[in-house]
Amino acid sequence: MKIWEIPTPALIIEESVMAENRKKMGEITKRAGVALRPHYKTYRSEKIAKLQMEDGAKGIAAAKLGEAEDLVKAGIQDVLLANEVTQPAKMEKLALLAKECHMTVCVDQMENLLALNEAAKKAGSTLHIFVEYNIGQNRCGVNTFEDCYALAKAADDASNLTFAGIEAYAGHLAHEYDYDKRYAATMVIEDTLRALKGYLEEKGLTVKDISGVSTGTVCFRDGMEGGTMYTEVQPGSYLFMDTAYNGVKLPFEDSLFLLASVISTKKDLVVTDAGLKTASVDMGNPALADYPDVESGMSEEHISHIIPNHGYHVNDLVRYIPGHCCTTVNLHDRFYLVNGDDVVDIIEINSRGKSY
Ligand SMILES: Cc1ncc(COP(=O)(O)O)c(C=O)c1O
Repeated sequence: MKIWEIPTPALIIEESVMAENRKKMGEITKRAGVALRPHYKTYRSEKIAKLQMEDGAKGIAAAKLGEAEDLVKAGIQDVLLANEVTQPAKMEKLALLAKECHMTVCVDQMENLLALNEAAKKAGSTLHIFVEYNIGQNRCGVNTFEDCYALAKAADDASNLTFAGIEAYAGHLAHEYDYDKRYAATMVIEDTLRALKGYLEEKGLTVKDISGVSTGTVCFRDGMEGGTMYTEVQPGSYLFMDTAYNGVKLPFEDSLFLLASVISTKKDLVVTDAGLKTASVDMGNPALADYPDVESGMSEEHISHIIPNHGYHVNDLVRYIPGHCCTTVNLHDRFYLVNGDDVVDIIEINSRGKSY
């Protein structure tokens, strides 16, 4: 199949660029001495998760139970549900999944921790617990060392849980465009984690792992004086990149594009068949790769551009760089893996919509 035979709009991945991004991430994490646990939320495709395991990933991070179920079904043996799971039926399912793999889940509430222990007891499994610490994003996570200890100790004492470490994801820094601010805040986080680990260990607990870190700050861990406190990193977007991350100036390149067809033109106007149903806008509109500074006028089934004296014709193919790769991917059923003009594989986004 050739690229012009793809029914548009569709997501394409440049195979060689994604391979280079994977290679770079492997080198960065190796030099930093941290394990790679890529985040499934970016691509939601078991085929890509398996590629990352072949790259040497320790395991895969998931955001949702539905994603974790698919990862276990795909044979991934080490899954981190980097989120809180609180609904009783979901806890039951999670506890059953823990019989099939090394399953770690995050907690920030005592009631939830005790309920997870009951679910694991009923299932006859062990759940590994990361106590989530709010390292600045103000999303989930406990705010004090004391609260972190209380949960860690309770996990350590519980019959069907083990205290495995700390989740400290600094999502608020991922897209901080100011390098100095991003770097300084990262160093403060490292100091906080050093102090937190020391505090818990002084009280007799073992902190086996500290997990977190996005595409936006992973490079700081490479060559960090004294080493990073993180034992594993959870980047997702590095595989694909997007316009939001391109502003951060990282060593990864765009491998993911939304391929669209021109469906109408006027002297200064170009209209394509992509739109809000195929491109997310939560972190900015998709950018026309040939004219990244031209505005994209978004409607459901159309994107319009004002480009004086453009040379486009109906049925020309154009590429968009997604505004945000993760949310754009979730609008599609498949990726077309391309090499030059050739489509070399069609990759199902099998966990698309698994947001429960
Ligand atoms: C908990 C957690 N870990 C890792 C990531 C991966 O971040 P990125 O795609 O920016 O690398 C995210 C992204 O939202 C996240 O929420």
